[in-house]
Amino acid sequence: MKKGNIFSGMRPTGRLHIGHLSVLNNWIKLQNDYNCFFGIVDWHALTTAFDYTETIQDNIRMMLLDWLSAGLDPEKSTIFVQSNVKEHGELHLLLSMITPLSWLERVPTYKDQIQQLGSQGKDISTYGFLGYPLLMAADILVYRSNLVPVGEDQLPHLEFTREICRRFNYLYKCEIFPEPQAELAKVAMLPGVDGRKMSKSYNNDIPLGASSEEIWEKVQLMVTDPARIRKTDPGHPEVCIVHTYHSIYSALGIEELREDCRQGKMGCVVCKKRLAKIIDEQLAPLREKRDYYEQKPELLTEILAEGARKARITAGETMELVRSAMNI
Ligand code: TRP
Repeated sequence: MKKGNIFSGMRPTGRLHIGHLSVLNNWIKLQNDYNCFFGIVDWHALTTAFDYTETIQDNIRMMLLDWLSAGLDPEKSTIFVQSNVKEHGELHLLLSMITPLSWLERVPTYKDQIQQLGSQGKDISTYGFLGYPLLMAADILVYRSNLVPVGEDQLPHLEFTREICRRFNYLYKCEIFPEPQAELAKVAMLPGVDGRKMSKSYNNDIPLGASSEEIWEKVQLMVTDPARIRKTDPGHPEVCIVHTYHSIYSALGIEELREDCRQGKMGCVVCKKRLAKIIDEQLAPLREKRDYYEQKPELLTEILAEGARKARITAGETMELVRSAMNI
């Protein structure tokens, strides 16, 4: 007996990196106990990248490979592309009828993003982008989800979804939608190798599919304690990116490592080699799975087709209830 339904999704905007693993591992853990729907949300990607769609199909494949390599299991979870399940679009439209504009305008990410992208010369003051949180609400509600595993940055969107959910149930005197709860992953804050936020656009990330060589190259770029010139100089692990990583990945030997650094007993190169080895060990099983799937493009197509077919069944049932409640 499953404990309920789950929806979560990611926008296919490029390769995933090790900073995404905490959210993904949370999904992987939940797929045993819940009826899970995981969507590659390509319509959401269009809200900002509407003028650059050439790479979207490649990005969808890459995201699927990243997910499968991390351990999402198409035998357990329903994995699909959002635009293949038109019910998301229909629910978005119907919910738009009951959504006050002011609710959308006050979602904190809205003005922030408009400003941020605006300063880069990109105008996203579109109808579609304003509706981003409502499309998200449709994603979640169309599966009558109980739980939504996300990162903390998505909480305002989830709160908005709950408000829409209550408003619908209230207006149409029904209990079609359970109120979805957030399931927060413990997100380890991994900085990029240069100390900025980890992002592929800064090229300071370690991709999930990185080879051993690529991992070593990236670890070599990590910024260490600038006051430490010679190996025997005492180090300051608190300001060192390599140390930040060790404290997440090498919990066991961390005290000793810190002392060796402070006393100038261990040089940065050795310390980096150790870290690269640990990250490599973490990513090796992912690479193996990725290789397996990469050689089977027809299997990838099949997984998405089967996922969409299953998703449509549940989404279709919800839409029957919704249309009937709205007399449509
Ligand atoms: N907005 C989410 C993000 O950027 C992606 C997303 C779209 C999503 N629809 C969702 C997440 C529904 C959870 C549930 O990460």
